[in-house]
Amino acid sequence: MKLCIASLVFPILHLIAVYAIDCAPPSGSFTIKTAKDVSDIRSCSTFAGSLVVAADGPVEVALDGIKSVSGNIDIENVANLQLLSSQSLEIVSSFTLNNLPLLSNLSFPVLKNFTALKWSALPKLKGATMAQHVDSEVTEVSIFNTTINSLDWLTWPVGGQLNVSYNDNLETISIPYSTVNAGSTLTISNNAALQDIHVDQLGGIYGALQISSNPSVGKLDFKSLETIGGYVQLSGSFKNVSMQGLNQVTGALNVESKNDITALCSDLSKKADSSILKGHYDCTSNQGAANPTPTITNGGVSVTATGIPSTAPNSESTDNGSKLSTGAKIGIAMAGAAVLTAFFCAVAFVLFRRRMRAKVQEIEKKVTEKRDSIAPSHSEADSFPPPAELKELESLEARVGMPIGKQLQELEANSPHELEARHGKNELSSPPTPLTPISPARSWYNDSINSDGPLVRHELAS
Ligand SMILES: *[C@@H]1O[C@H](CO)[C@@H](O)[C@H](O)[C@H]1NC(C)=O
Ligand SMILES: *[C@@H]1O[C@H](CO)[C@@H](O)[C@H](O)[C@H]1NC(C)=O
Ligand SMILES: *[C@@H]1O[C@H](CO)[C@@H](O)[C@H](O)[C@H]1NC(C)=O
Ligand SMILES: *[C@@H]1O[C@H](CO)[C@@H](O)[C@H](O)[C@H]1NC(C)=O
Ligand SMILES: *[C@@H]1O[C@H](CO)[C@@H](O)[C@H](O)[C@H]1NC(C)=O
Ligand SMILES: *[C@@H]1O[C@H](CO)[C@@H](O)[C@H](O)[C@H]1NC(C)=O
Repeated sequence: MKLCIASLVFPILHLIAVYAIDCAPPSGSFTIKTAKDVSDIRSCSTFAGSLVVAADGPVEVALDGIKSVSGNIDIENVANLQLLSSQSLEIVSSFTLNNLPLLSNLSFPVLKNFTALKWSALPKLKGATMAQHVDSEVTEVSIFNTTINSLDWLTWPVGGQLNVSYNDNLETISIPYSTVNAGSTLTISNNAALQDIHVDQLGGIYGALQISSNPSVGKLDFKSLETIGGYVQLSGSFKNVSMQGLNQVTGALNVESKNDITALCSDLSKKADSSILKGHYDCTSNQGAANPTPTITNGGVSVTATGIPSTAPNSESTDNGSKLSTGAKIGIAMAGAAVLTAFFCAVAFVLFRRRMRAKVQEIEKKVTEKRDSIAPSHSEADSFPPPAELKELESLEARVGMPIGKQLQELEANSPHELEARHGKNELSSPPTPLTPISPARSWYNDSINSDGPLVRHELAS
């Protein structure tokens, strides 16, 4: 171990100093390929760069000792990785895990300063140990397609995107804060086993909240919700959605359930009628059911009520057919309908024949035109408008030829990083990327303890 060698060679330094080692890979990113790489970077306290793991990297990556990674931890497509942890890491920029088929043990109990957590395709990850307190502003959390069964640690606000989708073993989740801010989007969708979504702390939604396709969620109790200033979309098989305190919708509220939520719909409708609830909403109960609940007063499958100010059409709440309720009227209508049907059939037949004749003429005309255009003169061909496909090709070319805006940004921002990091590729054959000193003044020191290459900047801190 390098620290031991260092302390033997420079015992005096060891006596007067506590080592704080800064590491910086020359390319901005370091690829962990072997267990030895792991133990090498463990001696770094701060790591100025990003960390990635090679596709055929080690089974265990325990980064104990590192406190800060200034760049990202980005681990994707690593076939054998089972354990990833650090009992010391506090700071990283963004933390991405994607397609790690064997990862089962994930533990970062003191990680409290990061901007993004993006986890996806983690079929063996049942749980994770994460800090419950985070200091930094988190702009994105995406937990997608994992087998994680608990997100108990997710108790801190997410400023931008929170997306929890396709996690088959997740049974419960809490939204542990009182507002969804403008610009934030919370999505909880397609989690097969999810039963409880705790939304009771939410008082105001000014961004977007989307809860959809979680087949086992029966109840949503928005106990504290008063204001929807953004967009709320709820769809699923809810049996009871309640928004007792809701009194303002300046954005939009759309609730749909395959089950009976007429209680909610009529509660909202009552509030709208008495002007307690201002704003627009849609509420659909028993959506798509064969036998819609007969007790709904508005007479249909769905209840749409519009408060003030109203911008949306009110079509489905119209009283449909109530005046044709007596048997006599129905009988008369049926007799009348038979006569009308016969008449319309006769008219339709005449029209049909006429149209067929016109069609035949049209086709004949087209065939003649085609024959004429088989040998067109050059000028004639030029004057034809280009076919749709050609136009599309041209516009595509135009777009590709103008690397402005997003495309340019993407090229500059992402490509170099990806190239350097090369995660997901076998890197044993590629030349090693040694960690090199930041401070040339210290190189004599490095050389003496670091004959095999991969160390870094050493600094003394008293
Ligand atoms: C995860 O790894 C830690 C060591 O880092 C170990 O103590 C713990 O038992 C492991 N947990 C599981 C579920 O394997
Ligand atoms: C989830 O990840 C697995 C691989 O672990 C993949 O085969 C599957 O298509 C993914 N599902 C979704 C919905 O992306
Ligand atoms: C998080 O870490 C960054 C980088 O070290 C630092 O600039 C920032 O102040 C930290 N934020 C908090 C809230 O500690
Ligand atoms: C949630 O994440 C998945 C996977 O990244 C993505 O397909 C989906 O569009 C996201 N949803 C939202 C609303 O961002
Ligand atoms: C729905 O939930 C609310 C709040 O928990 C409760 O007061 C109400 O009785 C429930 N309604 C039904 C029909 O279960
Ligand atoms: C009106 O009633 C007819 C027959 O009862 C039904 O098929 C139709 O969907 C209803 N329309 C509306 C808008 O409810």
